[in-house]
Amino acid sequence: MTAPAQTRTTRSSADLIRAEEPVLAHNYHPLPVVVARAEGTWVEDVEGRRYLDMLAGYSALNFGHRHPALIEAAHAQLDRLTLTSRAFHNDRLAEFAERLAALTGLDMVLPMNTGAEAVESGIKVARKWAYDVKGVPADRATIVVAAENFHGRTTTIVSFSTDETARQGFGPFTPGFRIVPYNDLAALEAAVDETTAAVLLEPIQGEAGVLIPDEGYLAGVRELTRRKGCLFIADEIQSGLGRTGRTLAVEHESVVPDMLLLGKALGGGIVPVSAVVGGRDVLGVLRPGEHGSTFGGNPLAAAVGTAVVELLETGEFQRRAAELGVVLRGGLSALLGRGVVGFRARGLWAGVDIDPAVGTGREIGERLMREGVLVKDTHGSTIRLAPPLTITAEELTGALGALEKVLA
Ligand SMILES: Cc1ncc(COP(=O)(O)O)c(C=O)c1O
Repeated sequence: MTAPAQTRTTRSSADLIRAEEPVLAHNYHPLPVVVARAEGTWVEDVEGRRYLDMLAGYSALNFGHRHPALIEAAHAQLDRLTLTSRAFHNDRLAEFAERLAALTGLDMVLPMNTGAEAVESGIKVARKWAYDVKGVPADRATIVVAAENFHGRTTTIVSFSTDETARQGFGPFTPGFRIVPYNDLAALEAAVDETTAAVLLEPIQGEAGVLIPDEGYLAGVRELTRRKGCLFIADEIQSGLGRTGRTLAVEHESVVPDMLLLGKALGGGIVPVSAVVGGRDVLGVLRPGEHGSTFGGNPLAAAVGTAVVELLETGEFQRRAAELGVVLRGGLSALLGRGVVGFRARGLWAGVDIDPAVGTGREIGERLMREGVLVKDTHGSTIRLAPPLTITAEELTGALGALEKVLA
């Protein structure tokens, strides 16, 4: 991981953090680490200190930093063609769509860039489907979502957030959403009516602290939406692409949604790549001019996205997540009552509730940083663990050891 001298900054971490203050909007509160290089599961700061990355870009780095196959695909494409816009065809997009559709068992792909754009696109497609196919009267379509959701930061998406920090000061909000408690089929049953275009859910709520619904909930949502004649949109932007030990989190209940929202890891940690994947009966409602994106489906994104799909086609990463998930759960179980008051885990993904007497999530994150492990807190007293799926058992055990140490 030794970078050539000319790519190294001459400014210290402290200097760079100070320099950000007057020139960067303060919409984040990062840990005080300035990453300059990374490879696999490890990142290195400006001073050359190494850290194990136990966040992996909120699952955008499922394959680790700079996975050789992904870097090779990106380099090859950079040397040939990077952007065409969708005004023209490019020679990489068809294969990306074919392979992504095959991987997910669905028919069609709508390529976008960020996660929030995929969510926005899914909402638009669902509304269009409601008017064109279901026959909902104009401008009456509703979408049912879950409390504590996290689907992104656009004005429409924060319109149906229940996190006041995400909403306060950003109104007026987009109408047409109904919020029900997560993991509550009776509440969903009551909320869905003849105006409902779709139910939009995270199969596991990531930002909320890796909340895993009861067994049968996702299958119940599938049955309910089918029976009531509305769509099921699964936001797998964080839960998908190997993280939980399967390609998709909905597979744990053998559910196939009508639309799947993907992002984060789809870009291999290199470029923003997101997509709505769905049945032809749903995505087929879009006509030329009704939706688009200058960068969506660009050849560089398609090349990297295809290389990501190729990695997932091997099943290796899903297997690793499932196997190492046992190590993660075992390690966290051993910490129960010793600074950990509860945890939820599936595959290589966990939300760990810290005993408030031991410290806040932020404080634990800072202590772990000093031990060479990077994590992110959420909701005050919870930390999230989501290492690259390339992590070794030894590295994972090391991270759990560091957690044990800082909790002691
Ligand atoms: C489930 C889910 N949906 C959507 C998003 C938004 O993705 P992006 O930040 O790329 O817009 C996120 C980001 O954390 C997410 O976790």
